[in-house]
Amino acid sequence: MSKNPIGLFDSGVGGTSIFKDLHKLLPHESTIYLADSANAPYGPKGKNWIIERSIVNTELLLSKGCKTIVIACNTATTNAIKVLRNNYNVPFIGIEPAIKPASLKSKTRAVGILATRGTFSSELFRKSTKLYCSDVFMVEQIGEGIVDLIEVGKLNSPEMTLLLKSYLEPMLKANIDYLVLGCTHYPYLIPQLKKLLPKSVKIIDSGKAVANQTEAVLRAIHLLNETIKEPKLQFYTNGETSVLETLVPKKAKINFLEF
Ligand code: DGL
Repeated sequence: MSKNPIGLFDSGVGGTSIFKDLHKLLPHESTIYLADSANAPYGPKGKNWIIERSIVNTELLLSKGCKTIVIACNTATTNAIKVLRNNYNVPFIGIEPAIKPASLKSKTRAVGILATRGTFSSELFRKSTKLYCSDVFMVEQIGEGIVDLIEVGKLNSPEMTLLLKSYLEPMLKANIDYLVLGCTHYPYLIPQLKKLLPKSVKIIDSGKAVANQTEAVLRAIHLLNETIKEPKLQFYTNGETSVLETLVPKKAKINFLEF
């Protein structure tokens, strides 16, 4: 067993949605979360740039003694996880859009997916689509601008409603019955999405699957923390701390750090 923290990183505040699922499942684990908000969004940037930032984030988490790293970002996972696994010995748990369960369950055989440009263009995503979704009509929509609004605290704003309406329109036209949220910022939009979508459309994200996978990996290598002491929940951001404050538990410690 190990009391060392689990490290998580994202391009910004969105990966806190994954932190929440993880903390719920493993409440005794200490965590260190990095929000690379000064460099968000990752989505429109190129693969090499995303790999470089993922390496910076990984090295910082390892320097703080993390026993495993959760890449709480679809864009970083789909572009960089292979390189990270090849270069570091620590286990990496990544997140990918839940297109497999959606395509298995869809009755209308039309599935909507909202993700970043970086995720859609990645080799990993293209491979998974070919493997799991060949007999389903996928309505792929880049969520241009969504991450930017969430990062500046405009989660609930008229600008956001307009963007969401325009992104959902082609999906509704195609009669989707599943909407896959392929970016860790997007689970915060679920209340708004529910208002804009008919009840027949189910929304799925990958947060719980990532938490379960993290537990399984740590258990398999005997690194789960079995103590019941209060864990240390630390958050670091190289951007504004104010938005992060609204999304994490009150007992968490938020620090500004340049990285
Ligand atoms: N949370 C990141 C993801 O899951 C957002 C990517 C971005 O910064 O564009 O893809």
